[in-house]
Amino acid sequence: MATYLVTGANRGIGLEYCKQLRERGDDVIATCRSSTKELDDLGVRVEVGIDITSGESVVNLKNKLSGFKIDVLIQNAGILERNSLFELDPESIRRQFEINALSPLCFTRAMLNNLSEGSKVILMTSRMGSIKDNSSGGSYGYRMSKVALCMAGKSLAIDLKPNGIAVALLHPGLVKTGMTSFTPQGITPEKSVQGLIRRIDLLDLANTGGFWHANGETLPW
Ligand SMILES: NC(=O)c1ccc[n+]([C@@H]2O[C@H](COP(=O)([O-])OP(=O)(O)OC[C@H]3O[C@@H](n4cnc5c(N)ncnc54)[C@H](OP(=O)(O)O)[C@@H]3O)[C@@H](O)[C@H]2O)c1
Repeated sequence: MATYLVTGANRGIGLEYCKQLRERGDDVIATCRSSTKELDDLGVRVEVGIDITSGESVVNLKNKLSGFKIDVLIQNAGILERNSLFELDPESIRRQFEINALSPLCFTRAMLNNLSEGSKVILMTSRMGSIKDNSSGGSYGYRMSKVALCMAGKSLAIDLKPNGIAVALLHPGLVKTGMTSFTPQGITPEKSVQGLIRRIDLLDLANTGGFWHANGETLPW
């Protein structure tokens, strides 16, 4: 049994992580801005008021968790806003950069005292953050922010290896959640998270710093 902390846990992929981890007997600390009935009904520890962009709320969480070991830190919270070249919105791009890239890095930094040898840091990125895989253009803010997150994850993998902490960059697939307007082409959160948990279980210091699809495929940077 291990302790997992999941950000953005009130819906979508984050909620499903909490559900499946709870079902297999792990301890879960679910953090979110505001909870939902679905999350409350899981019976896991829920920490509300955690906006990952707010230094104050992250410090409050850090203080509450002082001395508490986290085995797996899953940084799942994120946003997707569409930006085309002709309707470029710099504020939207900044917002996505802050939520999707900068905040997960700062959050990891804030939680470092709770991590120790054998802990894992999971950054939920996207295949849209692969430069090689980009064949359709657009989505400037989302793509740029997820590339930046991938780079942060790679540096974290190098910096945290001496402490025995492994890092993974995971793409969940195209998933039917609010982020994708529950696209019929997507897979269910259940299927996605089954694959993601498998990837987390297989993560260690030998493969730290990898970028994987939930289905196990290694993705190109
Ligand atoms: N769905 C896909 O097909 C797909 C594909 C590739 C990557 N991903 C990535 O997977 C992760 C989860 O996506 P999802 O599909 O589950 O999205 P979702 O259903 O839109 O859920 C996003 C979650 O992030 C939270 N969040 C957003 N901004 C936050 C902030 N500032 N502070 C704290 N929480 C915040 C949301 O909380 P609120 O309810 O408070 O807004 C919500 O819990 C994201 O990082 C996303 O980029 C998803």
